[in-house]
Amino acid sequence: MANESADSLAAIPALQVEHGIAFGVGTSRPRLSWQIRDASPGWEQTGYELALDAGAGWSAVQQPSPESVLVPWPFRPLISRQSVRVKVRAYDREGAPTRWSEPVTVEAALLDPTDWTAAMVAPDWPEDVAGERPPPLLRKEFRVAERLRSARLYVTAHGLYRACLSGQPVGDELFAPGWTAYRKRLRYQAHDVTDLLTAGDHAIGIALADGWYRGYLMPTVTRRNWYGTRVAALAQLELTYDDGRRDVVATDETWRAGEGPLRSADIYRGETYDARLESAVAGWSRPGFDDRDWATCITVDRDPATLVRQFSPPVRRTQTVPPVSMETAPTGRVIVDFGQNLVGHVRLAAVTGAPGTQVVLRHAEILQNGELCTEPLRAATATDTYVVGERTAADWEPEFTFHGFRYAEITGLSEVRATEVTAEVVHSDMRRSGWFSCSDPLVNRLHENAVWSMRGNFLDVPTDCPQRDERLGWTGDLQVFAPSASFLYDSHGLMASWLADLAADQDETGGVPYVVPNPIGRLYNGGTAAAWSDAAVIVPWVLYQRFGDRDVLARQYPSMVTFADCLLREHGPDLNEELYQFGDWVDPRAPMDAPGEGPTDKYLVACAYLVYTLDIMAATARVLGAADDQRFQAHAEHYRQLWRTRYVQPDGRLVSDTVTSYALAICFALLESPADEAAAGGRMAELLAAEGFRIATGFVGTPLVCDALTATGQLDAAYRLLLEKAPPSWLYAVTQGATTIWERWDSLLPDGTVNPSEMTSFNHYALGAVVDWLHRSVAGLAPLAPGYREILVRPLPGGGLTSAQARHESPYGEVSVSWQLDANGDFACDLLVPAGATAEVVLPIEGWEAQRVGSGRHAFRGRFSLATSPPRRWSSGAPWDAPALIRSRKTEVHA
Ligand code: BGC
Repeated sequence: MANESADSLAAIPALQVEHGIAFGVGTSRPRLSWQIRDASPGWEQTGYELALDAGAGWSAVQQPSPESVLVPWPFRPLISRQSVRVKVRAYDREGAPTRWSEPVTVEAALLDPTDWTAAMVAPDWPEDVAGERPPPLLRKEFRVAERLRSARLYVTAHGLYRACLSGQPVGDELFAPGWTAYRKRLRYQAHDVTDLLTAGDHAIGIALADGWYRGYLMPTVTRRNWYGTRVAALAQLELTYDDGRRDVVATDETWRAGEGPLRSADIYRGETYDARLESAVAGWSRPGFDDRDWATCITVDRDPATLVRQFSPPVRRTQTVPPVSMETAPTGRVIVDFGQNLVGHVRLAAVTGAPGTQVVLRHAEILQNGELCTEPLRAATATDTYVVGERTAADWEPEFTFHGFRYAEITGLSEVRATEVTAEVVHSDMRRSGWFSCSDPLVNRLHENAVWSMRGNFLDVPTDCPQRDERLGWTGDLQVFAPSASFLYDSHGLMASWLADLAADQDETGGVPYVVPNPIGRLYNGGTAAAWSDAAVIVPWVLYQRFGDRDVLARQYPSMVTFADCLLREHGPDLNEELYQFGDWVDPRAPMDAPGEGPTDKYLVACAYLVYTLDIMAATARVLGAADDQRFQAHAEHYRQLWRTRYVQPDGRLVSDTVTSYALAICFALLESPADEAAAGGRMAELLAAEGFRIATGFVGTPLVCDALTATGQLDAAYRLLLEKAPPSWLYAVTQGATTIWERWDSLLPDGTVNPSEMTSFNHYALGAVVDWLHRSVAGLAPLAPGYREILVRPLPGGGLTSAQARHESPYGEVSVSWQLDANGDFACDLLVPAGATAEVVLPIEGWEAQRVGSGRHAFRGRFSLATSPPRRWSSGAPWDAPALIRSRKTEVHA
C-alpha cells in the first residue's frame, strides 16, 4: 500500500468503540467502526489499518477489507481493567491512505465474575413487606494515600442508586442501574472518579430507592416487592497508585445504613422529601459524619456471574422546558402548562415557606374543565411532595420517579413564579440520528409527536406508555415501532440490551413474555401471541437491517430458535385457535372495553405472523450460515399455504374483509401472484374509500397499511389516509392539539372529553409507526442493505405535498434526501450518500431509468412523472417487505 499522501483529503473524524462506549467496555474484543469524511466522490475503502498502543508504543494490523462498521477487534483480547489506545486509517482503491484518526482510549471494565470482591449489602433492619419504608442511605469512610494514579467505581444495586464521593455526585445518570431481567442479568456501571479524589480522608455514600426492583408494578398495583423485599448496593471502588498497588473499597458488612430526608420514592406514585430532615444527615457522604446511630449492613445473595456491564445509553435529563402558561384552576389551584406532553419531572427553584409547609406537585397529560384529568393514570398517583425545611430558597426536584405529563398542579407555595418552575425531560440519552420534514405542517407535527413519544417511552426500557400504572416493555409495541426508532435515534444499544432481557426472561418452553423485563412470571408468560411475542425474531432482524450489526443476530439466535420452535410446537401443523391472541389491538371498530375484538380474525393475524417470523428465521439462518435455513423455510411455506387455503376465498376476497387482512397479505407475501397482490391493494383502497379514508386498523395493520398501498399502486389512497383529519385518523389527534402519539385513535373524543375506557394513554408510540413510511416513501430514504450500506432513494410525492426531506446519521455517515416539486411540474432532488455506501436512485422523473450512484452529493432535475416502475418487485426497505425477504433466498421458493 502506498504511503500517506499529504494532500489526501479523506479523514476519519472519530473511531467508535462498540456502539459508543469506549470507557469501561464490557467485552474483551470490542468491535470498531469509523466513517470517512471529506472524501472525493465515489471514494471506496479497500483496506484498513488499526493500530494499538498498550503502553509499549504503536503496533498496527492491516486488513484488506471494505468493512468499516463494527469490524472485529484484531488485537489480543483485553483483560479486565486494561486500558489501551487505538487508532485507524483506511485505504482507497489506489491504496492511498486517509490520515490516522485521533487515538481513542479503550478501557475494559470488570470482565470476569472473579473480579468482584464486593458483596451486595442491605441495611440490617426489618423491612415492612406490606407497607413502605424510606429509601436508605449507605456509607463507608476510607483513606486515599499519596500518588493516586486512577480511581474507578464499579457499582450497581437492587433498586435504584445514586453514588456520591465526599459530597460530590458520581456521574449524571438517573435511574441507574436501569431495569433488566434482574434475576438473571443485573447491569453495573463504571465511572472514572479519579478527579473526585485527592490524598486524605474520604467517604462514599450510596442513596438507594425502590425503583422497579421493589416498587409498585402492574398488574397488581397494590403490590410491590416483585423482585425482592430489600434494596441493596454493590460497589467496588478501585484506587490504583503510581507504583501499581491497588486498594479496593468494597461494599461489605462494615458499611452503615441510615435514613435521610427522602421518605418515599416510587415510580408510579412519586416522591416525598422532607427537607426538615436534611440537617440530621448533613454531610452523610463526607468523611467525619457521625454514623454511630446508623444500622449495620447485611449481605444479600447475588451471583457475580449475572453482572453485566451496561452497554445501553444511560438515562439523563436531556432538556429543560419552561412553562408556556400558568392558570388558576376553578378549585383555586395553580396549573402550569408546559406546552408539550413529556416525561420527566418538575423542578422547583428557590422554594420558600414556613418549615413544615407541604408543596405538592400533581401531574396529568390532559385537562378537563380546567382541572387535571388524572383518570387515565389509574392507580399511579404521580404526586411529589416537598416539605419545606430550614433552608430558604431551596431548589428541589425528585430523582427516583418519573411522570408523563404536560400539566402540573402546584399547591403549597404562597406564590408560583414561572421562572422558578421547569419541566426536566428525562430519557435514555441516545444520539438523535433521524430527521424528517415536508411541506405539510400537520404531517410535521405528527412526526414530531412520534419523536416525543419515543423520547418519553425509551426510558431505559422501551415501554408502552410512561404515565399510568403500567409503563411496561410490551413486546408488540416495540415490535411495530422498532424500525421508526432505529431511524430517529441511535437506539441500537437500548434495544439490544432489551433483547438480552427478552432472551433471559423466556420460559423453559421458549415462550416469550408479553412484557420484557417480566417481573410477574407466569401471569405475563403468554408465550406466542402473534405480533407481540414475535418481537423475539423481528426486533433482532430490524437491528441487523438498520445498524448492520450481524452479531446481534448471532447473539439472539438461540433465543430466536427456541421461540420459533415453541411457535411450531404450540401451533402444530394446523393453526392452534386456542392460543391467546391480542389480534389487531385497538382497531377503531373494536368495542371500547375489548380492544382486541376488532373485525379482523385473530387467527388470520396469527397465521400471517407465523409465516413472516419463519421467513425471517430462514433469512437469519442464511445470514449466519446456520443449518436451520431449509427447515424454517419449509415451515414458512407450509403456513403460507395454510393461510391461503383458510383465508383466501374463491373470489379472492379474504375471510376477514378488512384493511389489516389485505395489508398482511401484501406485506408478508402471502398471496400467490403479483396480480393477486394488485387486487388485494385495490380492495384495500375500496374499503378505505368506503370509510372516507379514515383509519380502519390497529397495532397490527397500522404500521403496514401505507406500505401495502404503496406496493400495489395505491399511493393516492395512502396519502388520503395520511392526510385525513376526521376521526379516526393520524391527523385527527394533531388537529386536537396532540403533542405525542395517542394509544387510541380517540383517546380524546370529538366532544372534547377523555375516552372513558380503562385504557387511555396520550403517549403511546405504536400507532406512530407510520413515520417509518414517511422516511422511506414520502421523503424516499430507505435502507436496501444492512446498515444503509446500500440505500434506496425513491421519493413518492403525493397528497399535494410540494417538498419533503429526510436525513439520517447512518453507520456509514450522513445520508440525506431532499425533494421539491414546483407548480410547473418540475421535480428536483438533492442527495447525499456517505463514503462506503451506494444508492439506487429511482426518481419520479419522466423517462427516468434507475441508476446506482456512489458517495458524494448528487442533484437531479426533470419533469415530474410517477410512471417510473419500482426497481424490483417492491423494495421498500421496510422490515415487513417480505417479497424482498423471499427474494434474498438462494432457492426461489415460488418456482
Ligand atoms: C398496553 C398496550 C399493550 C397491550 C396489550 C396495554 O395495556 O398499553 O400497548 O400492547 O396492553 O394487551
